[in-house]
Amino acid sequence: MEITGLEIKLPCSESHATLLQFAMTLYYRHCEEERRRNLIPLVYLQSKESFIPTYTNETMTNKPKTPSLSIAVAVGENFAIGKNNQLLWHMPADLKFFKQTTSGHTIIMGRKTFDSVGRPLPNRRNIVITRNSSLKIEGVEVVNSLDEALEITKTEEKPVFIVGGAEIYRQALPKTETLYLTTIHQTFDADTFFPEIDRSEWEVVSAEPHKADEKNKYDYTFEVLKRK
Ligand SMILES: NC(=O)c1ccc[n+]([C@@H]2O[C@H](COP(=O)([O-])OP(=O)(O)OC[C@H]3O[C@@H](n4cnc5c(N)ncnc54)[C@H](OP(=O)(O)O)[C@@H]3O)[C@@H](O)[C@H]2O)c1
Repeated sequence: MEITGLEIKLPCSESHATLLQFAMTLYYRHCEEERRRNLIPLVYLQSKESFIPTYTNETMTNKPKTPSLSIAVAVGENFAIGKNNQLLWHMPADLKFFKQTTSGHTIIMGRKTFDSVGRPLPNRRNIVITRNSSLKIEGVEVVNSLDEALEITKTEEKPVFIVGGAEIYRQALPKTETLYLTTIHQTFDADTFFPEIDRSEWEVVSAEPHKADEKNKYDYTFEVLKRK
């Protein structure tokens, strides 16, 4: 097998499994472009005695569907995502994570989410779904179904992100390959919810727990889940 890909060398002070997980996390965070182009990560785990080469994950070698569909969402413990067409919390750390994750990509959202944001998000191709066939919004491509949104993005090389809200998440989840899931560790009173996911269908690529701090009121966890 010819391997043309990212090479990660790691000093071995922890178990190989831990290092491999770490490498995979790095890979997913920073190298989605390479993954899109079907490059394979070559991970060396370097121990004192030996140099154990070439860990590749089987799923990495499968050519992903084009384009790869991702969801970015922040949920409460009860899967709450919004109330009165607003978010339920102000968590700058999650806003930063969302910006980092989606910048440079196409984002697809429902008309109500667009209304709540109020403007196209910069450095992203913005697509809004509505049933209103005469709606026009400057700086936004308006479509009349999720299928239409997927049709006009099918030549995208980078993953396309579904960014809400509940109606659009529900329709897109079965087609989604990667879930960028932020859990805010609190139960919220809400009127919109993310569909509960069956965790047996998802592999945890990375999980990063964080404690509340002066800027972020609640404990939270960033997870990247990949459909098995
Ligand atoms: N926590 C998070 O990560 C997060 C992320 C995003 C949003 N949110 C929250 O989610 C809430 C909004 O969610 P929502 O479910 O009420 O609304 P939404 O999914 O953002 O938008 C719903 C609208 O999308 C259009 N639509 C939906 N399905 C369609 C289809 N098959 N064909 C054509 N158009 C379709 C319709 O627009 P028209 O009515 O114009 O026809 C519908 O009213 C807000 O509270 C927001 O703050 C939370």
